[in-house]
Amino acid sequence: MSETIKHQIRGLLKQHNAVLLAHNYMRDEVQEIADITGDSLGLSMEAAKTAADVIVFCGVHFMAESAAILSPGKKVLLPRPDAGCPMADMVTAAELEALKARHPGVPVVTYVNSSAEVKACSDICCTSANAIKVVQSLKEDQLIFVPDRNLGRWVAKFVPQKEFIFWEGFCPTHERMTVEAVLQKKAEHPDALFICHPESAPEVTALADHACSTSGMYDYCRTSPATRFIIGTEAGILYKLRLENPGKEFILASPALFCPNMKLTSLEDVLYSLQTLSPVVTVPEAIRLKAQAALDRMLAVPRD
Ligand code: 13P
Ligand code: SF4
Repeated sequence: MSETIKHQIRGLLKQHNAVLLAHNYMRDEVQEIADITGDSLGLSMEAAKTAADVIVFCGVHFMAESAAILSPGKKVLLPRPDAGCPMADMVTAAELEALKARHPGVPVVTYVNSSAEVKACSDICCTSANAIKVVQSLKEDQLIFVPDRNLGRWVAKFVPQKEFIFWEGFCPTHERMTVEAVLQKKAEHPDALFICHPESAPEVTALADHACSTSGMYDYCRTSPATRFIIGTEAGILYKLRLENPGKEFILASPALFCPNMKLTSLEDVLYSLQTLSPVVTVPEAIRLKAQAALDRMLAVPRD
């Protein structure tokens, strides 16, 4: 059954000159059929440079919106329009404008896990893969960081010369990973390295051997001589970690690391989206242009 659906999806992708992008947290079968899988930064870069006419974005709403911002003229499909991100909903453009009014002249760094409207009120965006370099690229000594308090505080440790004004947003999935759960896994697997995402609570990140974006985890685990890893991010990452590293063992740090929004998209949803060329994600042009400026400024920051 799923082989038939995959066959139909492949045929429609070709027919519509479409590309299928999937975030590293998607269901295994969606990652398997994707043309490109990646983290938020990697997928933004793919969306910015693709020659396809249609982008099928298997992820959550803010990611498809970023693709629509960076690829005007292309049709961006989000197979599940109800796949949102609770963290992105924790700050509105009006709230950010009010904060900016209290700190005139202070630049705003906005995590891509945010709405197009919030990006449009920002000076520069960042992802977890480039946040430190983005903050280092600012000439100002002070900055506003929205919406993720955990990513912001993690970045601040690497850029101590700058003063951060934090927004108190967070990822409910990563915050469900407790210190107790991690310590229990460490006790069960004393030889394992603990790798976590910087969206995790600071007391959890403090226990990590390494903190990085989802794609950063692939690089780290592939090149590390270690053979056992406790993974502190959404469970979807295990699919490719295990596929790419057959001789290594990956243990999820907590059973709570499950993002319901990231798990919504099924192969049936992808097929229906390609059959109907809907639902389309669009951004009003005035907002798109301002949000694009913040994303383009981020993409211009050298990676290494
Ligand atoms: P990255 O893909 O940038 O690591 O982000 C993780 C995330 O939570 C996306 O929703
Ligand atoms: Fe949002 Fe967290 Fe889910 Fe990512 S994992 S989409 S940040 S709720």
